[in-house]
Amino acid sequence: RKLVGKLSTGCIEFNEMMGGGIDTQAITELYGEFGSGKTQVAHQLAVNVQLPPEQGGLDGSVIIIDTENTFRPERIKQMVDGLSEKYGVEYDHEEFLKNIRVARAFNSNHQILLVDSALELANELKNSEKPVRLLIVDSLTAHFRAEYIGRGTLADRQQKLNKHLHGLQRFGDLNNASVIVTNQVMSKPDAFFGDPTKPIGGHIVGHTATFRLYLRKSKGDKRIVRLVDSPNLPDGEAIISVTTPGLRD
Ligand code: GTP
Ligand code: MG
Repeated sequence: RKLVGKLSTGCIEFNEMMGGGIDTQAITELYGEFGSGKTQVAHQLAVNVQLPPEQGGLDGSVIIIDTENTFRPERIKQMVDGLSEKYGVEYDHEEFLKNIRVARAFNSNHQILLVDSALELANELKNSEKPVRLLIVDSLTAHFRAEYIGRGTLADRQQKLNKHLHGLQRFGDLNNASVIVTNQVMSKPDAFFGDPTKPIGGHIVGHTATFRLYLRKSKGDKRIVRLVDSPNLPDGEAIISVTTPGLRD
């Protein structure tokens, strides 16, 4: 078993709440309403993971399983420029984009299969300059939610999600990688999913994800990140800003 790595969020408070950063060999779930910043945090981590450890990175590359077509290369460029400004270094957009491999998942079965493809790719890159140190699934639950409708299918959906999460945990363990998954909270009460403040996927996601982060909107570009039910860290809150050059304190 390798030592757990820490991936910097680029935000002091957020990092401190996480005991230094986002753990490797663990699944971290970002959940919250639409527009709460889940995809923005994921984009920033996809950039940060490529940095050397002195700058909070893991000297690695990233695989993104994109289920809603929300990956934006232009946004990555802005964040890379943000880092250039922050560290006074001329970072190359194209280098960063090259180390982000994006796979579109067309349905939940495809999404599960893509974890196997990710394992293969990570194996190929294992001894390269930029081994895969981050896997992002954005969104973990959207396909499941769309496909499994009606009470009779609930057990089936949870079983599939559970299997998927175990595959993701295995990826994190085998590659000493961080795994980030996003999960939308319903903003309106939903007859099937019940309590609007509870994340989709309910208890199975809750018990498998090692770290659960609840994001909510605050004034302007501010977002509140709450650490919920961590195994080894106190619950807490951190305030971040989603700005043009990226996440900031
Ligand atoms: P869903 O996927 O719909 O559930 O939402 P999400 O939680 O993924 O939200 P997302 O991360 O997409 O956040 C969207 C918000 O981020 C926007 O409302 C903006 O406030 C901010 N944002 C997105 N892109 C930019 C950008 O290029 N510049 C700046 N300054 N802010 C941005
Ligand atoms: Mg999103």
